[in-house]
Amino acid sequence: MSIALPEIPYNFADLEPVVSRDALLFHFLHHQRVCFDRMQPLIRGTHLQALSLEDLVRVSAGDPALRAVHRCAAEVWNHTIYWQSMHPRGGGSPRGPVAECLERRFGSYERFAHLFREAARAHFGSGWVWLVWRNGTVQIRTSANAGTPLAKADAVLLGLDLWEHAYYLDYQNRRAAYVSAFLEDLVNWDFANRELARFELAARANARAPAAATPVPVPLPFVPEARPEPLAAG
Ligand SMILES: [Fe+2]
Repeated sequence: MSIALPEIPYNFADLEPVVSRDALLFHFLHHQRVCFDRMQPLIRGTHLQALSLEDLVRVSAGDPALRAVHRCAAEVWNHTIYWQSMHPRGGGSPRGPVAECLERRFGSYERFAHLFREAARAHFGSGWVWLVWRNGTVQIRTSANAGTPLAKADAVLLGLDLWEHAYYLDYQNRRAAYVSAFLEDLVNWDFANRELARFELAARANARAPAAATPVPVPLPFVPEARPEPLAAG
């Protein structure tokens, strides 16, 4: 299989005024697309070319000979999660099973939001802040640069880009304002609920499987149905 060209599951202007069309367009074309384009010649003609993006990230993690491949693949994957973690007119209090998980883990959505903001604020330099699911509970994690929870086998429910390129056009150096806007106006809780449901399903299937059997793999990430507006329009 070959790794598909990245897509954004809405039009570039759909997140305005929270994220401007230009910010999203530049982010997509000059960061995720660049990583994708740099990755292609590094894997072309090798055994890596047959892997899914998720397996490529996992296989290349921790291998010094594949450091460049890993950085590119991880950033392509991280951004794909980021696009899906946002939605026009999203944000605010969660609903569904994820809301119950946040309540159990943090006591309230407000406490979660405070800790998420703090994790983003305290993270030094470029990177990511994540909501992950592990061992039956949700956790807030950060990763530096191209670091990704996928390499640590964490199941990602949400991801927020903390690189300055994600917010500088709209928020300059005000990272806190960008993180608050993400929480209040953009978070796609439906995506988080879908991801949680398939991770729980895979975990239950693995728990039922005989010990000697091969674990049931976690399904591939949700594939958005909507298509972005043509790039030529940018
Ligand atoms: Fe980015």
